[in-house]
Amino acid sequence: MLKLADTYGRVATDLRVSLTDKCNLRCTYCMPAEGLDWLPKPQLLTDEEIVRLIRIAVTKLGVEEVRFTGGEPLVRNGFVGIVSEVAKLTPRPKMSVTSNGLGMERLAQPLKDAGLDRVNISLDTVDPELFHKLTRRDRWHDVERGLAAARDAGLVPVKVNAVLMRGQNDAHPEDLLQFCLDRGYELRFIEQMPLDAQHGWNRADMITADEILEKLQRRFTLTPEPSSIRGSAPAERWFVDGGPATVGIIASVTRPFCGDCDRVRLTADGQVRNCLFAREESNLRDAMRAGASDAELAVRWQVAMRGKKAGHGIDDPTFLQPDRPMSAIGG
Ligand code: GTP
Ligand code: 5AD
Ligand code: SF4
Repeated sequence: MLKLADTYGRVATDLRVSLTDKCNLRCTYCMPAEGLDWLPKPQLLTDEEIVRLIRIAVTKLGVEEVRFTGGEPLVRNGFVGIVSEVAKLTPRPKMSVTSNGLGMERLAQPLKDAGLDRVNISLDTVDPELFHKLTRRDRWHDVERGLAAARDAGLVPVKVNAVLMRGQNDAHPEDLLQFCLDRGYELRFIEQMPLDAQHGWNRADMITADEILEKLQRRFTLTPEPSSIRGSAPAERWFVDGGPATVGIIASVTRPFCGDCDRVRLTADGQVRNCLFAREESNLRDAMRAGASDAELAVRWQVAMRGKKAGHGIDDPTFLQPDRPMSAIGG
C-alpha cells in the first residue's frame, strides 16, 4: 500500500470529499445573499468519478475515513448512491457527513441504510429568529428536526458545529450547550477562519477559544479531557459538569493543530488540496478524463501531498487567503 505522506512526516488517512459547492443557506460569514458563481456542471465530477477516486484512496493510498462535505452535500442527488457504493469497498472506510441539516429529516434513514456512520451538523444559535438573520433563511425548525432524525437513525455521535460572531450570536453560547446536552448532541465551537467568500474576516473580531470557555464557565464546570484521547482530532474537549457529556472547541487560529493533521481534500471539481489553506491544487479530474490508470492517479495524488506546508500560516505577515472560499473547498 502506498501512503499519502508529506515531507513533515504526516500521513493523510482522512479524506474530505466536497460533493458540491452549492448551498441552500446563505450564512453571512460564508457567502453573500445572492450566492456565488457555482461551478459549471461539466467541471463537476460525476458520481462514478467520485466513487473511483475514493476507491483509489482507500484501496491504494491508505485512506481510512471519508467525510462528505459541501457546500451542502445533501443537495447532491446522487449522495445516497455514492455512500452505498463506497460502503462496498474493502477495506470499508468509516463514512461521515458535515451538513447544515436541511434535508436530514428525510435522508437520515436512507443514509444510515446505505452505510453512513455519523453526522456533524452546523447550528449557530438556538433562537429561530436569529438563525433566520444569520443564514438568511427561516429554517431553524428544519435543522432541529434534521438533528433529531439523525440521532434517531443511529448516525451517532451527532456532533453540532457552531461558529460565534461578535455582536451577533456570541452572547449566550451556554444556551447552545444546554440545547445539545438536553438532546444528546456533542457541541463544538469553531474559531472563525479567513475562508469567507467576501474576504471580510478580521482577527480582532474573531471570538477566541478562551472567550468561549469563559462564557461557558458562567453556567457549567468544565474539566479538560486527557490529551491522550485527542489524537489528530481538531477539537479539544472538556467534560461538562463531571461528564460523560463533553463540549469541544476547534481553535484553528489561536491553537493550531496543523502538526497533527491527517487530512487531504478532494473538491467537487476533482482537485486534490493537501490543506484547507493550500494555494495549489492537483487536477485529478483532467488526468482521469485523459485516460489515466488507477495506478497513475494514485501516484499523482501522492505527489500532491509532498507540497503540503507545515501549517496554515494565518498569523504570517505574508498570509493570503486561498482563492476558493470554504464553501467550494469543503469545511
Ligand atoms: P470529526 O471530529 O471527525 O467529527 O470531524 P471534524 O471536526 O474534523 O469535521 P467537521 O467537518 O465537522 O469540521 C469542523 C470544523 O473543523 C470545520 O468547520 C473546519 O473549520 C474545521 N476543520 C476541519 N478540518 C480542518 C483542517 O484540516 N484544518 C483546519 N484548520 N480546520 C479544519
Ligand atoms: N471558519 C470556521 N468555520 C467555518 N464554517 C464555515 N465557514 C467557516 C469559517 N470561515 C463552518 C460551518 C460548518 C463547518 C463545515 O464549517 O459552520 O459547521
Ligand atoms: Fe452553506 Fe455551510 Fe456556507 Fe452556511 S456555512 S452558507 S451552511 S456552506
